[in-house]
Amino acid sequence: MIKVVHTIKEVREQVKAWRTEGLSVGLVPTMGFLHEGHKSLIDSSVKDNDRTVVSVFVNPMQFGPSEDLANYPRDLDADAELCASAGADLIFNPEPEEMYADGFCSFVDMIGPTAELCGKSRPIHFRGVCTVVSKLFNIVQPDRAYFGQKDAQQLAVIKRMVTDLNIPVEIIGCPIIREADGLAKSSRNTYLNEEERKAALILSKTIFMGQELVKNGLTDAAELISRMKENIETEPLAKIDYVDVVNFDDVSRKDTIGDNTLVAMAVYVGKARLLDNFIIEKK
Ligand code: PAF
Repeated sequence: MIKVVHTIKEVREQVKAWRTEGLSVGLVPTMGFLHEGHKSLIDSSVKDNDRTVVSVFVNPMQFGPSEDLANYPRDLDADAELCASAGADLIFNPEPEEMYADGFCSFVDMIGPTAELCGKSRPIHFRGVCTVVSKLFNIVQPDRAYFGQKDAQQLAVIKRMVTDLNIPVEIIGCPIIREADGLAKSSRNTYLNEEERKAALILSKTIFMGQELVKNGLTDAAELISRMKENIETEPLAKIDYVDVVNFDDVSRKDTIGDNTLVAMAVYVGKARLLDNFIIEKK
């Protein structure tokens, strides 16, 4: 059984006790409904740190008014089981009132890296992410924190935030984990019915196609985007939010594919807005 705490005070006491023993602490911030993708983050943290805290908090501040906050899947018992089996030491599962007390009015916001990709269709999203992640960093004060590359823009934004705000946490990005048939693991995959689940494969198929095109020498971003969009459009249940090519560090648009390029997409399949991407580290 893993210890689950709900208050900031309890987390601080536990982390303080570990610190007194000289132990290092890793944090895996999540919104729960954990899957193999989260488990890979926990595995990395357990490997790198003496103790691992997993936060499970569906952060209302990062959802727009018409988004899926109310329906976001939750299952704390299953999350606790996964965390325990992966060797995590503590779950922090606060209520919204614990994180956002009466009168809450301070935010962490970012321009630049939040402007493109998901920032266009989810204008308040990254303000919510930056605010909650900086709060979690202040509460847990971990040595390292782990984020998945599936949310590549989020990873770039958080790296920028800790640099800009001198937050002493090492940010570790971990690779995308996929189902056997290629679909990137996501808590939102549970929104898909059987037909949509099949249709959702168009994302990973298009990612693999894009990777192949780049491997074979394609460097023109506009052409890559248009070939990838054409492919997604062959699936009638898929509706493109964006397919784009940006610099992975600052999330600025790129015309030419080269080192450190992020090729990212968001595609609706039914109610689910799904993300996938690939990164070209060295060309
Ligand atoms: O990636 C997520 O699950 C969330 O955006 C995060 C980082 C836990 C912040 O709420």
